[in-house]
Amino acid sequence: MTEPVLQVIIASTRPGRVGRAFGEWFAEIAREHGGFRVELIDLAEVGLPFLDEPKHPRLGDYQHQHTRDWSATIARGDAYVFVTPEYNYGYNAVLKNAIDFLHNEWHDKAVGFVGYGGIGAGTRAIQQLKQVVTTLRMVPVFEAVNVPFAAKSLDAEGRVVPDPERTAAANAMLDELARVTAKLRPAS
Ligand SMILES: Cc1cc2nc3c(=O)[nH]c(=O)nc-3n(C[C@H](O)[C@H](O)[C@H](O)COP(=O)(O)O)c2cc1C
Repeated sequence: MTEPVLQVIIASTRPGRVGRAFGEWFAEIAREHGGFRVELIDLAEVGLPFLDEPKHPRLGDYQHQHTRDWSATIARGDAYVFVTPEYNYGYNAVLKNAIDFLHNEWHDKAVGFVGYGGIGAGTRAIQQLKQVVTTLRMVPVFEAVNVPFAAKSLDAEGRVVPDPERTAAANAMLDELARVTAKLRPAS
């Protein structure tokens, strides 16, 4: 049996973002966890335009190569972690767009969240995301990573400074993602 594929999806595309550092930090912990084959996906590199497909994505009848490529990427994931900033009490528009592009590809897969921001620590972004992901039949897990004042957690090289409590939160979420994924996708 091969390990399920966990895709860690970096949502922020903003120049000067801290999101890349938190994505790399979480992906490293996920690799050490050992329950998944980990892929790091950066929406800044995926580079999707605003949704430009004429048909509803549930039909899977995609007109554009960028959509077919994005579909193939997400279809091979067995579980996801969205690494999301909090912008104006919500998650960012780039992530919403990337989610909306697809439909069946997301179904019946566990999803967790690394939320970060200022004082909000990504909590409100995650609450918004839960509403959206359940519409796409994803199964959000309760355990999460929340980071207040995220920029303060980076060192001079822009890497996340290790923190035992945060690492423990990440591993608790990974354990739960593994448990739920085993039920949702027993063949993976
Ligand atoms: C447009 C904008 C809106 C923001 N709104 C919030 C907010 O509502 N709550 C919060 O805690 N932080 C907020 N922040 C702070 C960001 O979460 C913080 O700057 C974070 O680093 C952004 O992620 P990024 O650097 O990966 O893009 C906001 C930042 C921006 C740029």
